[in-house]
Formats: sequence, structure tokens, C-alpha cells
Amino acid sequence: MHEHWIIEALASELDRHSKEGLSRQLTRLLRDWIVAGRLVGEVRLPASRDLAQSMRLGRNTVLYAYEQLLAEGYLIARQGAGTFVNRLFAPAAGPACVREPLLGLSMRGQRLCTGYLRPREELEGAFVPCVPELSAFPHRIWQQLQARHNRHADSRDFNYQTGGGLRALREVLSDYLQLSRSVRCHPDRILITQGAQQSLALVAHLLADAGDVAWMEEPGYLGAKAALAAAGLELVPAPVDADGLNPQGVTDPRVPRLIYTTPSHQFPSGVVMTLARRLELLERAERSNAWVIEDDYDSEFRYSSQPIPALQGLADSERVIYVGTMSKVMYPGLRIAYLVLPDALIDAFRRANARLYPEGHYRLQAALAEFIERGHFARHVRRMRELYRSRQACLRLALGRGAGECLQLSPGEAGMHLVATLPSGMDAVRLAAEASQRGVCLRTLGRHYLGEVGEEGWVLGYAGISEAEIRRGVEVIAAVMAP
Ligand SMILES: Cc1ncc(COP(=O)(O)O)c(C=O)c1O
Repeated sequence: MHEHWIIEALASELDRHSKEGLSRQLTRLLRDWIVAGRLVGEVRLPASRDLAQSMRLGRNTVLYAYEQLLAEGYLIARQGAGTFVNRLFAPAAGPACVREPLLGLSMRGQRLCTGYLRPREELEGAFVPCVPELSAFPHRIWQQLQARHNRHADSRDFNYQTGGGLRALREVLSDYLQLSRSVRCHPDRILITQGAQQSLALVAHLLADAGDVAWMEEPGYLGAKAALAAAGLELVPAPVDADGLNPQGVTDPRVPRLIYTTPSHQFPSGVVMTLARRLELLERAERSNAWVIEDDYDSEFRYSSQPIPALQGLADSERVIYVGTMSKVMYPGLRIAYLVLPDALIDAFRRANARLYPEGHYRLQAALAEFIERGHFARHVRRMRELYRSRQACLRLALGRGAGECLQLSPGEAGMHLVATLPSGMDAVRLAAEASQRGVCLRTLGRHYLGEVGEEGWVLGYAGISEAEIRRGVEVIAAVMAP
């Protein structure tokens, strides 16, 4: 890799207005890139003097970062040759990471490409977050339904579509959302999309202009950050405390245009937003004339009590855009999701969606409508809820035995992952790099922060792995944490 690309990437990601010192940022960025495999192999880093000069940084700022990473073992120094990435810290495999920006990319394109992309080993196995149990899905029933709908397809279903999704699917979803999630809904309010990611991009493009401010939960969901940032929004961290997103904790005085939140099960912390906080947030949105994006991605998997009603159903005014997805309750590769929109926005969204992302897969949508209608969906969710509940219990028990008092675990009333926070002084990134060498993925909590990292820890997905894998994974955690 040419050193020039490293300087370019650092220049675009280093935030000179952040409260986090430049030296700390530099250390963190380089460390994250090494762990994520963006600096692959024995890459030579720019000489500290060149880097300092090109980026208008003090030489000591760069030297401190290099020395810190040398001490941590991420870098090695070669007499007379320079400073190199320590090959030992390269992730096991996978060409999935973007290594150098392509010539000709726009600034936006370069920022998008240098953002975090899951390497291959973060797609499956212990403790990859956000992946459901794929082998327990009723594949046979699903295939039969799809085959039948394909056989009896109306040829019009193969043409371009502008209906906002198959009506039959919007009808069953509307019933489901009203009953299970207390969403104020009717079939015409629903727009079917190809994933929450597309829904977020559409919302960002239609409801905000480049340069507008979007509040983003801190820590928060990487996919939402990518979608909002790609639309040119300025992301402002909105801290999450034990009651959920805290509007009073936002220090940036600019008025938000969009507020992104996961109130039913905050991603990644797992906090459920309290009623008082929900009302405060709605009131704040009203006052700011802002739209609230409610991402309700996994609330079907609730273990302790009845599902918490959606924020959208609570609002008097129509300020909340509800984002739902089939990725967790069915499977991520399905790429079917939906938006529930205020009446006044439906037409505009349907038109814009048809222009930007022409619709398709109406036969697949018909199969899904029948899958839900016939009760297969509800049965599958019930079975997965039980499975994930016992996997979470297994993870808690194993961590309790293996990692003792060291790790503090999030409440886990819902969802498919737990957050384990580390005592201060323990380096989550370094330990994750060691675990990765042993085939275990420990997604660092720090990756989910826009600004200064609040707590060090890991996001541990447990839904898609067996209890045996959980126990094996915990043995690796215990081994890397051992003094
Ligand atoms: C907070 C959150 N929202 C949404 C999604 C799902 O997005 P998609 O429908 O694009 O698969 C995820 C998946 O990990 C998520 O964690």
C-alpha cells in the first residue's frame, strides 16, 4: 500500500473539532484499521516527520501515537527501514476490507469506502452480532411457498412496479404491527423496501438536505451512521444513558432535522427507553420541528415482559418514521423491510422510492405474506425467542464462570446480543485482536462511538451460534483476559 493512501485516509477521518485529542485519535484510528484488516500485511507507515508535515500535526503527536502502538505490539520498528504494521495483528483472512481508495472517487465516495466494513470472519461464528440462527429457519415450508407463488405468478408481477410493495404483504404487516407493536398503521402507510438500510437512506434523502444535522445515538448503529452520513448529514452524538437517548445530554447547539433512535432495544447498549424519556424526546422533536426515525429492528425477541409499544404509536403528531425489517425475524439475505409513514408523506416516499430504487420481488413478497398469514412467521418467532433466551442464559453462565467478576453485562431483556464492559485499564481492542487470531470475533464497543469512547467493551452476538460454540468462545475470552 502506498503511504499516500494512509495519509489521505487519516486526513479524512481525523476530526480536528473532536474533544478526543489528536494523538489519541491517531492511535485509535491506526489500531482499528489494523484490527479490521484495512492495513493488511507488513505495511510501512509514513515516516513520522512526513505524516506530521502532510497533516499539519505536531511531530510529537505522531511520535506519541507510533510509540503507543509499538508498545502495544501493533507496530514494529525496523532499524533504518521505518515503522511497519505487525503482521501478527492482521485478521485471519478475507478480502472484504477496502484497502485503498480508488482513483476518481468523490470525497463522499471515499468516506463511504473507508468506513468500517465487516471482514469475512465477522459474518458468522462466535460472537458475531446481529445474525439470527439461520439453520433453525423453516426452509422447507418457505421453499414450498415460494415455488407455489412462482408457479402461479401473474405475468404483471414481473414488470416494473410502483405500488410501494405488494398489497397483500402490506395488509398482513399492517395487522401485525398494530397488534404486536401498537403502531398506528394501515396498509397504505407501509412502503416495502429492500432493507432497513435502504429505508434509512430514503428517509435521509427525502427529509433532510446535505449539511442538516442528525442526532445519532452514542453509542449507536453503524448502518444508520453510514446511511445518514452518505446523504451528507452532519452527525451529532446524542448520549445514551440508563433511560435511553438523552436529549439534554446533546452539547451541540444546532437544531436537529433528524433524530435516529432504537427505543425498544437501544443498539448496542440494550437499554429500553423509558416512557418519560420517550415523551421528552417527542416533545423535543416537536419543538425542533425534527423527524424522529424509530428503528425497531429486533423487538420481537423480548424475554422479560410484554413487548414495549412503539414510540410511533405514542406520538400525537405525525413526527415519527417507523423503520422495520425482516432481517432478524426471517433472515438478513431476504432483503425485505418496511417503512410506516405519516399519511402526508406516503405519496412522496412511494414516488421517490420508485425512482431511486425500482421495486421488484413481488412473488417473494407474496410468499412472505402467506408465510405470515398462515402463522409460520409467529411460530418461528416464538421458537427463536425461546432458543435465544436459552443461548443468552448459556452465555451469561459461561462468562460468569470463565471471566469471573471482570466483565459487566448489559441487562439483556431483549435482542440477540449482550454488551460486556471491561474494567478500566483493560484494552478491548488489543484483546479483540488476540481473540480474532483464535477465531473469535469480539466487536469492540468503541467502534460504535462517533466521539470519545465512553466505555471499553465488546458486543457479543449469541443468537446465531450453538451453546457449544458459546462455551468455546468464552474459553477464548477467558484465555485472552488471563493476566
Ligand atoms: C439497529 C439495526 N437496525 C437495522 C438492522 C437491519 O438492517 P437491514 O434491514 O438493512 O438488514 C440492524 C442489523 O444489524 C440493526 O442492528
